[in-house]
Amino acid sequence: MSAITYEHIKTCKQSGARLGKIHTPHGSIDTPIFMPVGTLATVKTMSPEELKEMNAQIILSNTYHLWLRPGEDIIQEAGGLHTFMNWDRPILTDSGGFQVFSLSDLRNIKEEGVHFRNHISGEKLFLSPEKAMGIQNALGPDIMMAFDECPPYPAEHSYMKASVERTSRWAERCLEGHKRPQDQGLFGIVQGGEYEDLRRQSAKDLISLDFPGYAIGGLSVGEPKSVMNEVLEFTTPLLPQNKPRYLMGVGSADSLIDGAIRGVDMFDCVLPTRIARNGTLMTSKGRLVVRNAKFERDFRPLDENCSCYVCRNYTRAYIRHLIKANEMFGLRLCSYHNLHFLIDLMEQVREAIRTDRLLDFREEFFENYGFNRA
Ligand code: GUN
Ligand code: ZN
Repeated sequence: MSAITYEHIKTCKQSGARLGKIHTPHGSIDTPIFMPVGTLATVKTMSPEELKEMNAQIILSNTYHLWLRPGEDIIQEAGGLHTFMNWDRPILTDSGGFQVFSLSDLRNIKEEGVHFRNHISGEKLFLSPEKAMGIQNALGPDIMMAFDECPPYPAEHSYMKASVERTSRWAERCLEGHKRPQDQGLFGIVQGGEYEDLRRQSAKDLISLDFPGYAIGGLSVGEPKSVMNEVLEFTTPLLPQNKPRYLMGVGSADSLIDGAIRGVDMFDCVLPTRIARNGTLMTSKGRLVVRNAKFERDFRPLDENCSCYVCRNYTRAYIRHLIKANEMFGLRLCSYHNLHFLIDLMEQVREAIRTDRLLDFREEFFENYGFNRA
C-alpha cells in the first residue's frame, strides 16, 4: 500500500475538472487544492494556528533551503519537519532541483547530479537524485518530489529532449534511493517544456516507474499563459486517472481555475505571500496595491467579498499605514488575506465542480476580476 492514495469523488460535467481527496499519513486533503509555501519551515509571518484558521490543509517546504539551514540532520533529530515546525497536517517538499536552477547562476549539470554554489555563502555544493532522496527521507514530509531538471523557457527541442531523458533516468535513481516508501509518497515530475512529443515521452517514462502521484513541472517559467494552458491540455490526459496531479509553481487565481478545468489537483506558489510583503492584495475584483494614495482614507476592508480575519477587522487605510511604515503587522495581515483568498477560491472551485458549473464559475470570476479573456 502506497503512503499516498487518490480518491476520485466526481468529475465536473461542465468542465471535466476533478473533485477528489488525497490520503496521506497526516490526514486527507480535498482537491483541487492550493498549498501555501513555507520554504524555510515557515510560511513567512504566519503561525500554524493561523494557517489552520484559514483552512490550509497542506503546506510545502524546500529540500534545498532546509539542507543548507538548519540542515536535515537537525530536523531529523527534532523528530522530523512536522514536529520541528509544529505542523501536524500534511507536508510536501520540493526536491531542490528547481531551486538549484533558479537560485544559482554557477551550476554544472552532469549525469551524476548538479554542481553549483550555495546562493548565500558561495560554497561549492553537489545535489543528486540520491542526495535529494536522503535529505527528504530525513525531513520526513508526506509527499516528496523527484530530483528533476527544469529547463528555462524557451529551450531548443534538442536540449529539452536530452534533459527529459536525463530527468527520467534521475527519476529511476530517485525511486531506488527512496528508503521510506511505506510512509512517504514520492511523486515523479513530467517535463518537456512546450513540446507535446517530449511531454508524452516524459509522462510515459515516469508512468512506467509507477509513482503514487505526478507533477507537471517546467511551467510558469516565463511562457505566455496560453502556452501553459495548451501544455496542460495535452499533458493531463496522459496521466493516470487514479493518481494526483500537481502543477508546480503556479498560484495566480486565473491559472488555478484554468488548471483545475484541465484536470489538475494540486497547486503551490510563493506569489500570494511574496506580493503581500510589498502590499499587493488578491481580491475578487483583481489586484489591489494598498500602498496607493487613493487608499489613504479608505475605511473599507481589503475585499468587500472576503470573510477572512483581516477583512472582518481591519481597513485599507490602516493596512496602508502599516505597510508604508514598514510595520511587520502589515505584512502579516496582507499575507493572511492573500493565502485565505486562494484557499477560499479553491473551496469555491470544489463547490462548482460538485454542482457541475465550473465553467460558469470561471466566467463570473473573470468578469469581476477584470481579466481580458486572452
Ligand atoms: N517548481 C516549479 N516548477 C518546478 C519544476 O519544474 N521542478 C521542480 N522540482 N520544482 C518546481
Ligand atoms: Zn480577506
